Amino acid sequence: MMRGFDSIESMNADSVLVKRQRGSKRIYVVCAVIIGCAFFMVGILIGYFSRAQHHHSTSAPIPEVPTRRRPIDLILDSIKEETIRDSLRQYTTESSVAGMPGTDKLAQKILSQWKGSGLDRVYISSHKVSLSLPNPSHPNKVEIIESASGEPVFAAQLEEPSLRAEETNIGGPPGLNPYSPAGEVTADVVYANYGRIEDFEFLKKNLSLDISGKVIII
Ligand SMILES: *[C@@H]1O[C@H](CO)[C@@H](O)[C@H](O)[C@H]1NC(C)=O
Repeated sequence: MMRGFDSIESMNADSVLVKRQRGSKRIYVVCAVIIGCAFFMVGILIGYFSRAQHHHSTSAPIPEVPTRRRPIDLILDSIKEETIRDSLRQYTTESSVAGMPGTDKLAQKILSQWKGSGLDRVYISSHKVSLSLPNPSHPNKVEIIESASGEPVFAAQLEEPSLRAEETNIGGPPGLNPYSPAGEVTADVVYANYGRIEDFEFLKKNLSLDISGKVIII
């Protein structure tokens, strides 16, 4: 009996074991399904968020493409007090009277600057022109001489005093009256303001002055 019991028990135990084994299989399947579902959900979530992000990025404002600035703005931006001062200093440090040595140096400087700023074709073109140049050893100047004494009452300065230390006029020629041959003229002197057409018309019409043969000071 006892044995029988044992056997029944063992049989029961076997069936329990079988049941348990079956139960553990079910749990395993349930777990697998849950894990599978979890992966599936994660997959869906990844898909959803990546799409949502993608969607979000397309609806975001389009990043501004750097546009080319208008030439007028570039030019206006380059016009600054300091730039003007620097350029004037560069171009006027040395005297550059047309036809005299300093001019060629200045032309070469401007040529290299224009080439450097990207202009396609920059060149120096030579022209032959008649220029009135000063003669430093025999300068050309205006003097007003008093007829009675023959003494100059006024003499134009050949060099103007510097107002600032940097105004040295390095290598500059003396002052000159271009296209005016040397000579002596004796005549009445008439002041004609700026020497414009209307200034001469004023002298003639309003003041009834005949200016022919006179020395005009403007
Ligand atoms: C010169 O005279 C005219 C009239 O003949 C007059 O209209 C003009 O204003 C005068 N000019 C000056 C600068 O006084």
